[in-house]
Amino acid sequence: MKRKIPQVYQIKEPLEAERYLINGELKQWSGKMTPVNSTISSTEKHQPTYLGSVPELEEEQAHEALDAAVKAYDKGKGDWPTMRVSERIQCIRMFVRQMEQKRAIIVKLIMWEIGKNLTDAQKEFDRTVKYIYDTIDDYKQMDRDAAKFEKQSGVYAHIRRGPLGVVLCLGPYNYPLNETFALLIPALIMGNTAVFKPAKFGVLLTTPLLEAFCSSFPAGVVNVLFGRGRVLAAPIMKTGKIDVLSLIGNSQSANALIDVHPKSNRLRLVLGLEAKNPAIILPHADLDLAVRECINGCLSFNGQRCTALKVLYVHEKVKDAFLEKFNNAVDDQKFGDPWEDTLLTPLPEPDKPTYIQELIDDAVEKGAKVMNKKGGQHFDNYIWPAVLYPVTKDMRVYQEEQFGPIIPVISFTEIDQPLDDMADSNYGQQVSLFGKDVQNLSPLIDTLVNLVCRVNLNSSCQRGPDVYPFTGRKDSAKSTLSVHDALRSFSIRTFVATKDNPQNLEILQEILDNKQSSFIRTDYLL
Ligand code: G3H
Repeated sequence: MKRKIPQVYQIKEPLEAERYLINGELKQWSGKMTPVNSTISSTEKHQPTYLGSVPELEEEQAHEALDAAVKAYDKGKGDWPTMRVSERIQCIRMFVRQMEQKRAIIVKLIMWEIGKNLTDAQKEFDRTVKYIYDTIDDYKQMDRDAAKFEKQSGVYAHIRRGPLGVVLCLGPYNYPLNETFALLIPALIMGNTAVFKPAKFGVLLTTPLLEAFCSSFPAGVVNVLFGRGRVLAAPIMKTGKIDVLSLIGNSQSANALIDVHPKSNRLRLVLGLEAKNPAIILPHADLDLAVRECINGCLSFNGQRCTALKVLYVHEKVKDAFLEKFNNAVDDQKFGDPWEDTLLTPLPEPDKPTYIQELIDDAVEKGAKVMNKKGGQHFDNYIWPAVLYPVTKDMRVYQEEQFGPIIPVISFTEIDQPLDDMADSNYGQQVSLFGKDVQNLSPLIDTLVNLVCRVNLNSSCQRGPDVYPFTGRKDSAKSTLSVHDALRSFSIRTFVATKDNPQNLEILQEILDNKQSSFIRTDYLL
C-alpha cells in the first residue's frame, strides 16, 4: 500500500518550464517539450508521477547560446573577463542570495526527480550554497595574494590568474545542483563565460534559478539550455569555439565530445568521471566499523555516487565474519520514499533495476552467489542491494561501474591481489583501507597513494569536505576540483612583465595611480 505523502511534498501542479536563458534573455519556447516523470508514485496503484516538462531545444538554440557566450567573452575584451574582481563577486553574491530563497522548491524537486532522501537533498543544497560563499572568499584571497609586483633578474612582473574563454558545463544527475555548480561558479568567477546544460535527470530543479541567473549576470555570461547532449553539446563542440569542456559524467560521453572538437590544444578539460573505488579489509580491521563504513560507502544514495565503494576486497581470514555482519546490515536497512529519510530510496532511472538484475544473473551464472536474503528482491522502482560473492574478473559486475545497489565482494590472501587489480584498473579515484596494525598499514598507504588520489583510512570514500582536492588518475578525472583548485582549473597564469628602467617604472606607476586597469592594481579586497 502506498505510504501517505506529506502535504508539503505532494506534487499539486506540474511545473511546465517553458523558458531558457540566452544572451541575458529568458526566452519562451514554443516547440517540443520533454516530459519529466518521477519513478515515485503519487497513487496507491504504482505509476510514475508527472512532474512537469522542460524545452527540448534544437541545434539552432545551442548555436545561439554559444554565440552569446562568445560575444560576452569578446576575445578577452568583454565586460565580464575584464571586470574588476569586486564587481564579478557582486554578481555571484546577487545570484547566491536569490538562490537561497529557492531552497524549499529545489530540495523538493531533488527528492522527486532523482529520489535522494530528504537529509541528503537538504545537504546538497546547503553544501552548494556554502561552496559558493567559500569560492568568493578563496577568490578574494587569491586576488589579495596577487596584488603585488615581483622582481627577478631586472624584470618586474605582475602575475595573476586569467580566464580561459568559453566554458561548456555539463553536470551529472546524481548531484544535479552541487556538482554542476561546483563547476559553473568557479568558471564564472574567474571571468569565463558559459553555456550550461543540466543532466537527463534533475533538470526541472534548475528552472527556479533561471531568473536569478538572468538578473545577476551581464548578457551572455551564463546561457542555460535544456535538451539532449547529442543535439546540443556535440554541434557546439564541433565549432571549435569552446575553450573548456567541464563535465561530470562518464568518460565515454566526455571522449565523444572531445573527439569532435577540431582544436585539441585549445580545449582544456575539467572532468570528473567514473570510478570503481575498492574497500580493502585487512585481517586486523575493526569489523563493526568496517561494516558501518562499507554500508554507507556502498549504499548511500543507492551507490549512485562516483565515490561509492564499488567492490569490497576482504581478507580470507575475516571474510566469513565480515560477510555475516555485512549481509545482515544490508538487509536491516530501510527502503522508503525520499521524505521518509531512509537510506534506500527509489531509483530515478526506470530501467536501472533491470540492469542490476542483469549484473546479478551474469555473476550467478559465472559462479557467484547472492549472499543476503533480500538481495535482488524487486519493487516497483527499486531492487534490493545484492551482496555477491565470490566475484571474479570475468563478471560484468567486476568490469562495469554499477552506479546502483549491488555489492561485489572478493576475498584475498595476498595484498598484492587488490593492489595489482587497482594498478590494472582503468580507474584511480579513491580507496578505503580498513585495518589497525600500523606495521602493516604504513607501507600499504605509501603504495596506495600512488594508485589513487585519496586513501580513506577506516572511512568510506567521499568527495567532501569540499576544500580538499577531488581528482583521480586514468579514466577517473582530468584536473583537480576543490574550492581552491577549481579556481585554478578554470584559469591560467598570465602576467605583465617589464624591464626595470625609469621610463617603464613611471608608466607602471601611472597605470597604478589612475586605477583604470583591472589587471594592474595593487589595492586589496577585504
Ligand atoms: O558522484 C560523485 C560525487 O562527487 C560524490 O560526492 O562523496 O560527497 O557523495 P560525495
